Amino acid sequence: MAKDGNTGNPAADNPETRMWGGRFAEPTDAFVARFTASVDVDKRLYHHDIRCSIVHANGLRAAGVLDADEHRTIVEGLEAIGAEVERDDFDWDPALEDVHMNIEARLTELVGEVGKKLHTARSRNDQVATDVRLWLRDAIGAIDAQLKELMGGILDLASGHTETVMPGLTHLQTAQPVTFAHHLMAWFEMAKRDRARFRDCLERANVSPLGSAALAGTTFPIDRVASAAELGFDAPAANSLDAVSDRDFALEFCAVASLAAVHLSRWCEEIILWVSPQWGFVTLPDAYCTGSSIMPQKKNPDVAELVRGKTGRVIGNLNALLVLMKGQPLAYNRDNQEDKLPLFDTADTLVDCLDAMTRIIAALEPHPAAMRDAAERGFAVATDFADYLVRRDVPFRDAHEIVGRAVAMCVEREVALDQIPLDDLQALCPRVDEDVYGVLTLDGAVAARDHVGGTAPRAVAAAIEAARRHL
Ligand code: ARG
Repeated sequence: MAKDGNTGNPAADNPETRMWGGRFAEPTDAFVARFTASVDVDKRLYHHDIRCSIVHANGLRAAGVLDADEHRTIVEGLEAIGAEVERDDFDWDPALEDVHMNIEARLTELVGEVGKKLHTARSRNDQVATDVRLWLRDAIGAIDAQLKELMGGILDLASGHTETVMPGLTHLQTAQPVTFAHHLMAWFEMAKRDRARFRDCLERANVSPLGSAALAGTTFPIDRVASAAELGFDAPAANSLDAVSDRDFALEFCAVASLAAVHLSRWCEEIILWVSPQWGFVTLPDAYCTGSSIMPQKKNPDVAELVRGKTGRVIGNLNALLVLMKGQPLAYNRDNQEDKLPLFDTADTLVDCLDAMTRIIAALEPHPAAMRDAAERGFAVATDFADYLVRRDVPFRDAHEIVGRAVAMCVEREVALDQIPLDDLQALCPRVDEDVYGVLTLDGAVAARDHVGGTAPRAVAAAIEAARRHL
């Protein structure tokens, strides 16, 4: 940029050639040009911008604004620009503000005066809203495919562990035994909801702002239903003011992405606990861990930690968009230009985190013996003992009290529940019999919870089967 206050770009500095230069007597201040430029961020919309422009050109042709030659010239020019960008042979110029004006300026440079007709009956306001929706549609498609792959990975891992017993926790304290497969299938359910939410978000995002022009629509007889259909949208947006200013779809995407990232973050938190020597439930291969520059023994689960950490960014992006929108009157305001960084960063970060999670799950080596060992500690079968007493006509509250006293006895003697002699148990409750030891086992406890959504190996195998059909 030139120091004299000009942008240094002859096309942008010259009031005659600036795209909106007509009413301006002075060139744009260099700082203002830099401050308002967004091309570094929004140039990644180029493909969708060109597609949107071609469909718009088709509409101008149908409306009689362009003749057949003009239309062909413009479409070919736009396609040539697409090819230039693809082979990295396009000179992005910040002085031309954004992706839209860069491409339009290049079009006129390539095809001459006729290029100046393309912007008839549209504004960058409906253009950018259309481009971003097109982009988001692709982003959601990619994320959906990744979620599906991740869910497949969870099923593969779970299939081998329907009989692997681990401690189920509440308050991070041993609660009741569960199977490892059951735990993994809880993750599957979260991912399944995330996928459904993305699909739902896509449904609302998939309407076309094109033809809303600056805010009020256009005086030209364009067919918004036709352009919407050509772009693969379900319908044209019903209100032009709303269409150019609405960023709900971006916000909704960021909200759904935040929730998905929160799920990944929670799973990673569990994996980080599981790989610690204190737990030892799973091992991650060396290739997925990093070491310490000072402590030679360290093997840290950094990938999982970073998924947890990056989730903070994703949530921050949602917050940024909410605050961006909260003060905006109808219709378009330049604030909206700031929507892209958080939106793009959210998609990019989630794509990376989903990839990381899929890799971690495929690489994870479970240690069933360590899981079982941990489940043996902490009286995980205490509820089963109480349920046993209930089946012998002891009211549940009384059963709870009796088992509580049995646990206190165990704590004092430093033994497990099934190591208390029958005489001592019968002293606590005469209805206890020899057969109680059958319910005081981890395998008995998980097998007994044999219903839809329960942890029994049979129930979990059925859940995995249903999940496979769902996928
Ligand atoms: N680059 C802008 C955006 O991303 C679109 C430009 C609309 N500018 C305007 N002055 N109406 O929102």
